[in-house]
Amino acid sequence: MISEKFLLIILFVFQIVFLIFCLFLIIFFIMLIFYLIKTGVPFVKSEKNILEKIKKLDVLKDGMVVADLGSGDGSFLYFLAKDYPHIQFIGYEINPILYRFSKNFQQLPNLKFYRQDFFKIDLSQFDCLYLFLYPSILEKILPKIQKEAKKNCYIVTNSFDFKKLEPVKKIISSRPLSSVYIYQL
Ligand SMILES: C[S@@+](CC[C@H](N)C(=O)[O-])C[C@H]1O[C@@H](n2cnc3c(N)ncnc32)[C@H](O)[C@@H]1O
Repeated sequence: MISEKFLLIILFVFQIVFLIFCLFLIIFFIMLIFYLIKTGVPFVKSEKNILEKIKKLDVLKDGMVVADLGSGDGSFLYFLAKDYPHIQFIGYEINPILYRFSKNFQQLPNLKFYRQDFFKIDLSQFDCLYLFLYPSILEKILPKIQKEAKKNCYIVTNSFDFKKLEPVKKIISSRPLSSVYIYQL
């Protein structure tokens, strides 16, 4: 027979675990809201179909260095890095909790994540930039990209396009968050 004392201990442990879990969720949502206000961009994962479209548009080539500006939880870059082992992928994310999540994906030798504001990084090392950001942020980062990025660097945007640039390739979808635009400097 399980004693009452033992049951109480189990219940107590369960309550503590539940409280820690709730506390973690509260901190997670507070951080999401804090960084949404700070950056003006919410965390939304790229959909799987975006990966297929990027492959179809055939911009990624062996030897390239590709950056995801605002890499979120890192899962998008992880799937790309798995499919392209000869391309180096680097993600920059400002939210420490999302960055912490992305570190779990960092088992691949061609994948790295940094907790960093992408407005403060040097863009000259990349052959391709991936951006899933609001149009206002795209307009804000464009002068930096034009100033620093390599000549011929590809810029891939998810869902939102640059109003001042003409894409070299695109796949427009009627489904929300499923269009891809490719630009080349
Ligand atoms: C729409 S999510 C895209 C996540 C990921 N790239 C994907 O496609 O699944 C945009 C991410 O950019 C991050 N972000 C916004 N401004 C940033 C900045 N200045 N520096 C670094 N990360 C930023 C946000 O925290 C958010 O996680």
